[in-house]
Amino acid sequence: MNVRDSEAVAAELAAAGHVQADDEESADLVVVNTCSVREKAEDKAVGKLGLLCKSKRERPGRIVGVMGCMAQRMAEELFNRVKGLDFAVGSRAALKIPEIVARIEAGSTRIWFPGELDGIDVPNGHTAPGISAFVTILLGCNRHCSYCIVPDVRGPEYSRPAREVVEEVRNLVKGGVREVTLLGQSVLRYGRQGKPVWDEEPAPGAKFTEPFPRLLEALSQIEGLRRIRFTSGHPSGCTEELARAFRDLAPVCPHLHLPVQSGSDRILREMRRGYTSGEYLEAIGRLREAVPDIAITTDIIVGYPGETEEDFEATRALMRAARYDNSFIFKYSPRPGTPAALLPDDVSPEEKDRRNKVLLADQDDLGVGNNSEWVGREVEVLAEGPSLRNKARWSGRTGQNKIAVFEPPQGIAVGDLVRLRVTRANPQTIFGDAMGQ
Ligand code: 5AD
Ligand code: SF4
Repeated sequence: MNVRDSEAVAAELAAAGHVQADDEESADLVVVNTCSVREKAEDKAVGKLGLLCKSKRERPGRIVGVMGCMAQRMAEELFNRVKGLDFAVGSRAALKIPEIVARIEAGSTRIWFPGELDGIDVPNGHTAPGISAFVTILLGCNRHCSYCIVPDVRGPEYSRPAREVVEEVRNLVKGGVREVTLLGQSVLRYGRQGKPVWDEEPAPGAKFTEPFPRLLEALSQIEGLRRIRFTSGHPSGCTEELARAFRDLAPVCPHLHLPVQSGSDRILREMRRGYTSGEYLEAIGRLREAVPDIAITTDIIVGYPGETEEDFEATRALMRAARYDNSFIFKYSPRPGTPAALLPDDVSPEEKDRRNKVLLADQDDLGVGNNSEWVGREVEVLAEGPSLRNKARWSGRTGQNKIAVFEPPQGIAVGDLVRLRVTRANPQTIFGDAMGQ
């Protein structure tokens, strides 16, 4: 999401006449995009901003600003924490940056522009896209999980009209994009509340009637768009219809990032996640029944307040039951203002570290088996170009989002879909031979 927002700001700046610098050293303007989800991310951003502001001594006239969740959360206090900071903008006001930069250039100092936290200015500009692009379809989040700062700093949910999204994707495809990733904190909630995202009701007898699967269907009809991905999911959005969309809409890739956070029903309730471990596994079951090869990845928090050894073991058991293709493990970090921050952060840093390492090792064990199962089978890869390690070979990703390396067949072009027979695999990469196209 932050990569996408940064790109949109870069596009706005370019439209205002700025030129992208070759590197950070030579830039006259540097904007740091920030995350508040864990304290460590904020500490890093403050450190980076401090260094950038110091660099103004060697580069008089350099402008340093900050955007994103941390700017939203800390607001004007940031000017005290970071001496020499020129501007800060709220998380839904980033598109105002060119205007603010112009004011700084005209002599203003220390501008704090919060914008409206329920604003609906969606970042929709793109810098010269490659074959793959991100498209934001949903802003903010209404879930209010107990530990999470996102609803406070990114504001309430807003779903963009479907027409606008389809138009943006169509333009990207005209510019050469072959794969889009639709973004939202809880992307399957697209169009589930607020103003309808579709101008018309689904046609009688339509195959897809829920707002998000309908969007997938509409995007699938765009000629030249080969792949559609989206992130992140929530079990409540894993409906029969979504499962059918995965199965029947060819461009929709068989991969879903479905954060579980914990496998303990007690902790899930405390986290206000809105599902039990059983319901979560049922959701995966529905998807796998429709698409047996679908890849499922997740986020897990270790050391939530009051997490016992038994809770932790329940998480390990759930990981095995879910057979994840990949897991991102986070150590719980109290965020000021969230309900969980009122609870004692009672799992010691050493214990969080231990649980973190145990889950990483568990995931490695799951992952080793995962890739080798592909040997001998066929996969379809979106060609990205010469592989970084060995330029004579090309690489790309499978629908499951696994990296594949292959000898390029004659006449291949970036953005082609290539069928491979998998010859070998290691935990990170699949190797294959291109088949007759
Ligand atoms: N502490 C640790 N991890 C967190 N996440 C969100 N909030 C916190 C927190 N306070 C994790 C969740 C989420 C991912 C993006 O970050 O796992 O899915
Ligand atoms: Fe945070 Fe929960 Fe919203 Fe994800 S769904 S952004 S964890 S509040």
